[in-house]
Amino acid sequence: MKVAQPLLADHTDMRVVAVDDSGSAEDRKRIVQLSPDHPGFRDVAYRARRNRIAEIALAYRPGEPIPEAPYTTEEHEVWRAVWEALEPAHEQHACAEYRACVRQLSLAPDRIPQLSEINQKVEALSGFRLEPVAGLVEPRVFLESLASGTFLCTQYIRHHSTPLYTPEPDVVHEIVGHAVTLASPRFAELNRLFGRAVKRTSSLDELNRLSRIYWFTIEFGVLREDGSVKAYGTGLVSSAGELQAMHNAELLPLDLEAASRHEYDPTHFQPTLFCAESFDAMYDSLREFLIAW
Ligand SMILES: [Fe+2]
Repeated sequence: MKVAQPLLADHTDMRVVAVDDSGSAEDRKRIVQLSPDHPGFRDVAYRARRNRIAEIALAYRPGEPIPEAPYTTEEHEVWRAVWEALEPAHEQHACAEYRACVRQLSLAPDRIPQLSEINQKVEALSGFRLEPVAGLVEPRVFLESLASGTFLCTQYIRHHSTPLYTPEPDVVHEIVGHAVTLASPRFAELNRLFGRAVKRTSSLDELNRLSRIYWFTIEFGVLREDGSVKAYGTGLVSSAGELQAMHNAELLPLDLEAASRHEYDPTHFQPTLFCAESFDAMYDSLREFLIAW
C-alpha cells in the first residue's frame, strides 16, 4: 500500500493550479499546468480530462446546475480503492460526529459522486453547497466564500497510478473530507464563522493567523473520545496514510492562540497536531473564538 509519501498542499496554502499565459499557443490551450513530478504529467488523456474539468469550473456561474465531470472507469476504480482503505480506517480513527455524517450521506463505494448529487444531500442537512473551481484559489477567496455557505471545490481526481496519494486537493479530499463534515450543522456553522471572521480581517498577518487555525482544526484537528485520539480534520479523514501517521504526531492541547502562530508544512505528514479534550470542547472554544475575532 502506497501511503508514506508527502501529502496534500491545501486550501489555506495558496497554490493556483490553473491559468498560465506563458508558452506556446498549444500550451495556452492547456488550462491546467501540472508540474513535471505530478503523477499525471506524462498522461495525455489525463491532462485533457483535467482541462475539460477545469473548463467546467471556469464556465460555471453560481446558482446554475453543476455539469457532470467526465470520469473514466479507471478513475472510478481510484475512488473504490480509496474507500476500501478508508472505511476500516474511519472505524478505527475518525470521531463519532464524522462517522455519523458518513452514514447520513451514504456515498457510493464504487464510483465518484458528482458535485450536484452531493449538494442535494448536504444542502438539505446544513444549507452548505459545493461550487466547482479549476484549482486552488487564494486563501482569502476560499475562506470568505464559507461565510455564505459556499465551499469552493475541485472536481478532478488524482492520477490512477497513485490511488492513495495526491500532491493537491482533489475530489476525494473535497468530498470525503469537506463535504462529509459539512453535512454536520455544527461543522457547517464553524466553517461559516471562519468565513465571517476572515471578512472582518484586513491585515495579511491576521489572515495568516486565521488560516493556521483553519489548518489545525478543520483540516488537521484531532480530539479525545472514549479514551483515544480521533480525527475530525478533513486532511486526516480523507487519507488512510494521514490517519495512521497522526498517532505518531506530537499532541498539543487545543489552544487557538498558539495554533494561530504555529507554522506548518503542508507537504509532509503533520509532526504536531492540536488535540481537543472532546468534540464539544473543540466546538465551543472554536465557535467562541471566531465570534469574538
Ligand atoms: Fe482541505
